[in-house]
Amino acid sequence: MRNVLVTGGSRGLGLGIAVALASSGFQVIAIARQQGDLMAGARDQVALAQKGALHFRAFDLSDIDGIADLGKTLRNEFGPFYGLVNNAGLGSSGILANMADAAIERLVRLNVLSPLILTKYIVRSMMSAQVGTTKMGGRIVNVSSIVGATGYSGLSAYSATKASLVGFTRSLARELGPLGITVNAVAPGFLDTEMTHDLNTAQKAQIARRSALQRMAQIADVADAVDFLFSEKARNITGTVMTIDAGNTA
Ligand SMILES: NC(=O)c1ccc[n+]([C@@H]2O[C@H](COP(=O)([O-])OP(=O)(O)OC[C@H]3O[C@@H](n4cnc5c(N)ncnc54)[C@H](OP(=O)(O)O)[C@@H]3O)[C@@H](O)[C@H]2O)c1
Repeated sequence: MRNVLVTGGSRGLGLGIAVALASSGFQVIAIARQQGDLMAGARDQVALAQKGALHFRAFDLSDIDGIADLGKTLRNEFGPFYGLVNNAGLGSSGILANMADAAIERLVRLNVLSPLILTKYIVRSMMSAQVGTTKMGGRIVNVSSIVGATGYSGLSAYSATKASLVGFTRSLARELGPLGITVNAVAPGFLDTEMTHDLNTAQKAQIARRSALQRMAQIADVADAVDFLFSEKARNITGTVMTIDAGNTA
């Protein structure tokens, strides 16, 4: 089975992506600080598909110095990786002028520095797996956001982190294309997860009203898009950003 690492895979979008990929036949290793209480149900769902597997390993991805060892440990346990989904992220909001420097630093550390360093080590493992063999290829998907390209008051620091993942995606696609590894980003609109629990019903209704399809996108919509990008059908798609927002930015 091909190994795929999904960061932030304990709940919300990450768990949705982990279940979708495991149900498509991948061996998914979900990472988060805590397993939470949704993993058992997710494993049952994956078992129904009778194709892949879902594992969980605890790690704090803001521990940048520990990422190299994490990569080594996972490789020793599971073997080389075929894919990586950089999904874990903080959604801290705040008017920039009022934000604590430490809060801005935490955002940049988890949303930007951590995926860059983790990708570096996973890509090394992908490259070493290809030496002397026929090209195995691979898939990387970075979870950005529509606010990386549009604007939203109170999310300037967060938006900066999400926009940076798009630049990362495009250049890395160029670097890894010769190895047959595709690198894409998804840009979801607002999703109903713990990250957006501050949005009240009226705000959610407003987001839906302002979207072409008059509704909000769901976790499953984004998970299906990632599943497609991991499929053979998407073999010639790289360096792109797929927006899944029910037409919020149309
Ligand atoms: N929700 C939205 O409206 C929306 C829209 C566009 C893009 N996105 C993006 O989608 C991604 C997932 O968001 P979500 O809404 O699913 O968020 P969420 O429900 O808050 O889930 C975040 C996940 O990341 C993990 N995580 C947080 N800090 C971590 C750390 N230091 N180390 C390891 N794992 C950590 C969490 O587990 P632990 O807390 O146990 O570590 C959890 O599994 C994020 O990149 C976000 O920017 C979300």
